[in-house]
Amino acid sequence: MTHRTVYVGSDHAGFLFKNQLIKKLKTEFPDLDFKDMGCDSEASVDYPVVAEKVARMVVKETEGRGILICGSGLGMCVAANKIRGIRATSSWNLESARLSREHNNSNIICLGARLLPEPLAFDAVKVWLTTAFLGDRHLRRVQLIEKLEEKP
Ligand code: RB5
Repeated sequence: MTHRTVYVGSDHAGFLFKNQLIKKLKTEFPDLDFKDMGCDSEASVDYPVVAEKVARMVVKETEGRGILICGSGLGMCVAANKIRGIRATSSWNLESARLSREHNNSNIICLGARLLPEPLAFDAVKVWLTTAFLGDRHLRRVQLIEKLEEKP
């Protein structure tokens, strides 16, 4: 894995979860820079705002990566996927994290702080960070997804 920044954002529902996750990820992956993009407290914030902030940073980089946490891991995923170039996927176990990389070349992982135990989310992120895209027929399919972005 080459050195890179991983942009991490959450809404209020994922705030404490995000802090815990970042702390553990920094220890586990000392070569990566986990950049906290907010929110900064448990005060209510609108998840699309944070999703856009993270997604815009991710698409600026060649192989940018982001982690988004909300209550369910769903709203963040819907919002992030509105940004061209984003392939956000919601993961709920290790297998979904692995497949999101191998088949979908996921560049943002979305997690549900109210649905997942934090240790499981941490393990899912570890898998997601260390699993490579398989390419081949999956590349063709990802390219077809990219073509959808060009359609009116
Ligand atoms: C906030 O209550 C909640 O709606 C949000 O965290 C997220 O789960 C949305 O999908």
